[in-house]
Amino acid sequence: MIEIGLFLGGSAARWLQTSPDIIVICVDPWLDGWAGDYAAKYGNSEFQDQLNAKEGLFQTFLVNLSACSSRVIPVRDASPEALLKLFLLGVQPDLVFLDATKTIDDLLVCHQLWPSAILTGDDWSWELEGDFLAKDAVIKFASKHGFEVIHKRQSWLIVKEPERDPQTVG
Ligand SMILES: C[S@@+](CC[C@H](N)C(=O)[O-])C[C@H]1O[C@@H](n2cnc3c(N)ncnc32)[C@H](O)[C@@H]1O
Repeated sequence: MIEIGLFLGGSAARWLQTSPDIIVICVDPWLDGWAGDYAAKYGNSEFQDQLNAKEGLFQTFLVNLSACSSRVIPVRDASPEALLKLFLLGVQPDLVFLDATKTIDDLLVCHQLWPSAILTGDDWSWELEGDFLAKDAVIKFASKHGFEVIHKRQSWLIVKEPERDPQTVG
């Protein structure tokens, strides 16, 4: 799978623990200069200096996933540009988990490059100044292609093919 937007690797750790064979290609620029203050703002000030240090965010991500490092491929680059580079390298993910920009661009590019990949992500009902960015992008993408969307709590999943009654198949 490809995950877009890793931060400290919390969600990736879950995929790696849940699926012992999965390989996670992790796309995130892990830019310096914001994560420490962000963590402090949400009550984790003990990590502020570590995350604000040069390379602190990226190094913390690597350490957090070190137990599964053989199944973690960090790609320190921004989506959607990084996705095209992965495609040109021959990467064919079964699933893409989107948790970065909350715009429709990542969805459109993923679907263009990998039409049969499962597209899923986070932040369904996350609101920023009255806008539901992820939800709006997902609904717009789904309606453009005639796909359905399933969501539960913050998770969402694009359903590309409605489930068929096994008795009617073939
Ligand atoms: C909400 S956090 C990800 C949280 C993570 N998926 C989890 O649940 O533990 C968003 C991340 O997206 C990254 N990000 C922002 N813009 C990005 C882009 N264009 N491409 C890839 N990652 C990006 C940020 O650096 C940040 O680490």
